[in-house]
Order: sequence, then C-alpha cells, then structure tokens
Amino acid sequence: MRVSELDVTQQVKDVLRKRGYDELYPPQADAIEAGALEGKNLVLASPTASGKTLVAELCAMKHIVERGGRVLYMTPLRALAWEKYEEFQAYSGVERRDGRRIRVGVSTGDLDSRTIWIEGYDILITTNEKCDSLLRHRSPWMEGVSLVVADEIHLIGGDRGPTLEVALARLRQLSPRLQILALSATIRNPEEIAEWLDAGYVKTDWRPVPLREGVALNERIIFNDGSVKRLEPLHNADVINIAVNSVLDGGQSLIFVESRRRSQSVARQAANALGGSLKRRDLAELEKISAEIVVRGERTSLADELAFTVAKGVAFHHAGLRTEHRRIVEDAFKAGRLKIISATPTLAAGVNLPARTTVIGSYRRFTPGYGMYPISVLEYKQMSGRAGRPQYDEYGESVLIASSSDEQDALMENYVAAQPERLYSRLAQEAALRGHALAAVASDYAHTEQGLVDFFGQTFYGYHYPMGNIKLILAAILSYLRREDMIEYKGDYVYATDFGRRVSELYVDPYSAVIIRDGLRRGAPDVTDFTWLHLVCHTSDMRPILRPRRNDIEAVESYIEEHQDEFAFRLASDEDYVDYEQSLGEVKTAMVLGAWIQETAESDLLEKYSVAPGDRYSAVQNADWLLYSTNELAEVLGMTEHRAHLRRLRERVRYGVTEKLLPLVRLRGIGRVRARVLYNSGFPTIASLKRAPVAKLVEIPLIGPRLAKVIKEQVGGLVDEEEWRRLDTAASQQRALTEFIEEEPEKERGEKEGPEEPE
Ligand SMILES: Nc1ncnc2c1ncn2[C@@H]1O[C@H](COP(=O)(O)OP(=O)(O)OP(=O)(O)O)[C@@H](O)[C@H]1O
Ligand SMILES: [Mg+2]
Repeated sequence: MRVSELDVTQQVKDVLRKRGYDELYPPQADAIEAGALEGKNLVLASPTASGKTLVAELCAMKHIVERGGRVLYMTPLRALAWEKYEEFQAYSGVERRDGRRIRVGVSTGDLDSRTIWIEGYDILITTNEKCDSLLRHRSPWMEGVSLVVADEIHLIGGDRGPTLEVALARLRQLSPRLQILALSATIRNPEEIAEWLDAGYVKTDWRPVPLREGVALNERIIFNDGSVKRLEPLHNADVINIAVNSVLDGGQSLIFVESRRRSQSVARQAANALGGSLKRRDLAELEKISAEIVVRGERTSLADELAFTVAKGVAFHHAGLRTEHRRIVEDAFKAGRLKIISATPTLAAGVNLPARTTVIGSYRRFTPGYGMYPISVLEYKQMSGRAGRPQYDEYGESVLIASSSDEQDALMENYVAAQPERLYSRLAQEAALRGHALAAVASDYAHTEQGLVDFFGQTFYGYHYPMGNIKLILAAILSYLRREDMIEYKGDYVYATDFGRRVSELYVDPYSAVIIRDGLRRGAPDVTDFTWLHLVCHTSDMRPILRPRRNDIEAVESYIEEHQDEFAFRLASDEDYVDYEQSLGEVKTAMVLGAWIQETAESDLLEKYSVAPGDRYSAVQNADWLLYSTNELAEVLGMTEHRAHLRRLRERVRYGVTEKLLPLVRLRGIGRVRARVLYNSGFPTIASLKRAPVAKLVEIPLIGPRLAKVIKEQVGGLVDEEEWRRLDTAASQQRALTEFIEEEPEKERGEKEGPEEPE
C-alpha cells in the first residue's frame, strides 16, 4: 500500500513524505485493512521495528484532524513517553478542521496533580501510572478522549499490569465509543487481548531486517535457519568474542548479562579486546563523549570507569548509572560511535536501541532477594528482537551462550524455538487491587459492592476468569479500608472519606497511608529527621529499598542501637530472617537519605554504602513523593504539629543539602555542590549575593561569568555589562573549571512535564 493512497489528509501525507516514507510496511498495511482508520479496535502484534508507531500516528491524525477527537498514548516508561513525544512533534504543523495547529503534550511526572495545563492538547503521551493518576483526579481532559493507544500491551502480564488494565477499563467506562489500539512485539495470545477489548487483531512476523536466532558453543553458533557460523577466536570469553567478531565485521553489539557487576567487568574486558581496531576519527569523538561523562554530575569511581571504557568504544549500562549517563551512552550507540554495550536486562524493556548482534550472556538473571532465575521466553524475545538495525544492517543475529552441547539443544528448544508465555492478568492479588478499589470508590467509578464487581469485571482479569475470586478479595479489602477510615457506608452505598480520597489522589498504597498515619500519631520519643525518613522507608511504596551488603550490616545494626529513640516503629526481630533483612534495608535506605541531606558526596555514598548514583536518585525521588504525601496526609488528618519539619525535610531531600543551603540551592543554575562552594566562599545568603560584585563571584571555583550573571539576575543585583563581557572573554580560556554540570531537581512545579502552557 502506498502512502499516497491512504485515507488521510494531504498535510499528513506530506509529513510522511518528508520523512521519506512512500510505501507502508506490510504490518501497517494489514492494520489499515483491518479498519484501524475507520475506528475499529485493534491489537497489533508485530515484531520490533516493524513500524507499529506509524499506525498509531495515522489513527491519531484521523481522530484529531477529521473527527475533532482527542488522543491518549500510554507507554510503560518515562523514557519511552519522551521518545514518542519527540516523534509526534513531526505533526505539530498539521492543522485541525478549525485551522488550529495540533498540540502535542507529554505528562509523566508529579502523580498528585490535576494538570490543568493539559486542557489544550490534542494528543497527550503519558506513562500508565500517570494516566491512572489523571483518571483518579477526574481530569476533564480524559472525558473527551476518543482514541487510546496502549503501547507495549504485553506488560499487562507484568508487575505493573493491573494499573494498565484498570486504566483501560476506566477509559472505556468514560467513553463507550472509544477506539483502542493495542501494540506489542511479543504476544502469544493476541486473540485473547483482542476479545477482551472487542477488537480485531493483526499478528505478523514481518521484520524490516531479517533476524536469525542462535546458540553458541565455543566458536560455533548454530542458528534457527539451519546455518552455522564459525567465529575467529579473538577472546577467551564467549560473550566478548561474539561481540568483537561482529564489530570487526562492521557491526555493533549489545551484550546482556545477569548483574551490574558483570556488565562492568565485561565492558572493561571488551574495551581492552577492541583496542587498536577503532578508527582514529572514532577515537577522537569517543574522547569527547568520555569527557562529557566526567563533567556530568558529581564525580564517582563509577563515572570514571564508564568514561574509561567509553573512550575505547565500549559502555556498560545499568540502573546504577545516572539517567544522563545512560542517555549519553544510548545516543553514542545510536550514532554508531560506541561499538559495544554490555547491559543488564532492564535495557531491553527501555528505549529503542537496535544492534546488529545481540548476545544474551546468561539466560539467568539476578533478582535481589531471590537469587538467580531463568528469564522468561517473553524477556528473551524482547532482547533477541533488538537485533538488526534498519538502514545499517542486512540482517540481525541474536546469540545465546551454551557450555555443553546438551545445553545448546536445550536453549534452542526452550528459548529460540519457544513461544512467549501466554499473558494473564495479575489483578487478583490484594496488594494490586486495594489501591485500585479505593480509587474506584473515591473517583466515582462505582459506589456499591456489586458496582465494584461489575467495574473490575471489565478488566482483562474479568475477561479471563469468573469473578468469584475477585469478589472475595474485594470484600476483604473493603472491610480493611472501612476499618482504617478510608471509606464509609451509607446503607448499601460506599463513599470515600476525605482521608481515603486524599490517599487515592496522592497515589500511595492504602497500606503505606496507614503506616504514615500511625507514624504521625505515634511520633517517637525523640523526633528527628531520621524519624520521618525511616517512616517513609518503612512504607510499601518505598521500592526498591537499598539492601545492606555483608560489609555494612554491622554499621546498620549499630546505627539502630544508637538511635533507638528516633523510631516510630519497632523493628522486626532477627528471628524471622526475611522480615529482618527487609527492615535492615529500610533502615539503611533512611541512613543513606540522612547522609545525602548532610551533603555526603555521591562518591562516598558509593564507597561507604555501595549505593550507586542511579539508586540514590530513585530513593530520593520516592522519598520526595512520600514526604510530600506524609505532609498532605497530616493536613487532611488535622495533625499540624510536624508539618513545618516535614516540608523542610522534603526540600532538603530533593536537593541533598543541610538546611542552611536551602535559599541558595533554590536558585536556577545552582545545585548542592555550587551552593556549598558559595556558602563557604562567604556568600551564605541571597542578600550577600545581591551585594556581591560579579568579579567577586567569578573568582569562586565552579562559578563562571555566565553563571554569575544568571545568579545576579535572580537575586536582583546589578551587572555592569562591559565588565561582564571582559570577564567572559577572559574565562573562555579556562572554561574547563566551570564546565561541571550539576543535577538540579526541577525548581518549579510542572516543569518536568514538558512545555508549560500551549502557545
Ligand atoms: N513505512 C515506513 N517506511 C520506512 N520506515 C518506516 C516506515 N514505518 C516505520 N518506519 C521506521 O521504522 C522504525 C521502527 O518503527 P517503530 O518504532 O514504530 O517500531 P515498533 O514496531 O513500534 O517496534 P517496538 O516493538 O520496538 O516498539 C522507525 O524508525 C520508523 O521511522
Ligand atoms: Mg513501539
């Protein structure tokens, strides 16, 4: 099917033409033939990079331009939401019927906001959780949605699947004429998803670049198309040998390994193995990228190690890395500069990062607290499906590693030739259901027990199973919520209390809310920062916690001894080891947050507590949200005593500073490192900065003329333009000193969520 034959407006065709698309890919043509543009619900199950997004784009244009509709695009991850947002920008010049141009928005942040600014958007891209939260806040925008795209629908079978199915059920309840488009690369049972959604389905195996999957034993790879490949023995570790062979043949490789530590050691070895084979021009570019890594964020041994391997064309990639570092690595790989990435499997579920060769170093994966587990076929297919870069490679290859010929056969059968697991719902668990049950009552999805059963009957769970089981779980949940004063009954009708409604809006688990409420009531003999940090770490929403290592268990235990009076909760006893380990982890997380707000350097957190910057970052994000929630719940419960303390503490956690630095760190361009330097250089307050001449500020390490000017503009001091220009010219010679780029949490609410207001 040709683009010119499509039933869309000329402007939309022009966008496609401009991108160089003349012909639809076969799965796209199938989807159009199945009625995607005529408003039919559709499940599109088709391999990685087979162009599913374009189908969503065409449908979206149909709704907005020709039918005056509104489009919601749901993705499982923030990074993916932003990737889609960039892609949809291509349509921002297209006009609607009324002549106004299309407005595209993205919303991934702050879960407790009504986000009034989304009103003007025609397309909104969200994470599944953010969508659920907008529904809970009864955002009026959601009521006008006429098309919803559910990307990566296979995640309905994962931990966060219940949120996705509940959100879809609610969206359908809101707009009975809603069109649904569900997309996935790896589903075995698309017909079941389709039947649930009253949809048709298209399932294809078409790929833009052919893929062969194989299993290697030493230097010999057997592929599923019957071919055999012999490798040059260039390295004694198989994973590295396969990757290096691919690079010497002009390709790029992704290596998946089971742990972070291993991803680093593989990267180091691969960097050495690659040595000498890179072109000089590549090396010069890699030097620049490596330098960029060093100036991004506080320096740690982890960043230094990454910079070292990157300079040699190889990177490691795991959740311990800062987000910016991960992004630099991804971009450098897409640009072809980096030749090899060795990653933990989290990468497979993330951004779009194809490579010619995917090496799956281990079909086991390390799960903290559980040990080594074999991965699912679905996960394997997600990783292997990444192989083959359109426009660069003629084929893609994925390789598993075996250590005996028996294992080679077994892997062939259990992964390569296997089908991904059937998807089933995980909704019927109390932990998953209680928050959604409260939300359903609090946001008026239903007000009777039968109404709730009917509502949850519209989920994927309800499609698959009889409701008896859910009914029982719901009854237990409702009596729990009633006991804890989150809901109340009036005859047969059930309503949320103010407390319950706030819990639902804040997006905290009802269990967490009970812990928070009880902790606020109880306090501690000696209420300190640690009391509240530990309280939020004790909730079920603090995930993941930072687990103690063998070498810091003692430190955690003696901390507990010394700070006994500061706990609002008694800790689990060491008789039950699983609970005890969990509670040590909660204490450790609170200790790390405590060190963070005492301005402990990122490198010390890594050395002392083995907490990598990426982990510190997620702990801070979670604590920020939970301290905010604690403060909000204190308000609704009328417990004002600790609110000022909580507010200050939350802000310190966001910035990682002692209280004295708060005024400085609130300035744009100033993170905690620069705030400390200013403070120690004799500028501890805004007033002192206002009085300071620019020349004085420029003398301070890490403060260049540009930043000095930015500071002065914010504090309202005077800048002599001529003097400033002189300083700026002089400084450009020794820029290196001021290049350090600090982490700065968004300083205004809503900023993270993209463009603040539509024009
Ligand atoms: N008709 C077309 N002609 C040429 N290129 C196309 C066409 N349709 C899509 N592409 C390109 O194919 C690439 C992959 O498309 P897309 O991201 O939609 O894959 P996908 O099916 O969503 O895969 P995944 O399962 O990994 O999400 C994109 O870079 C896109 O620009
Ligand atoms: Mg996609």
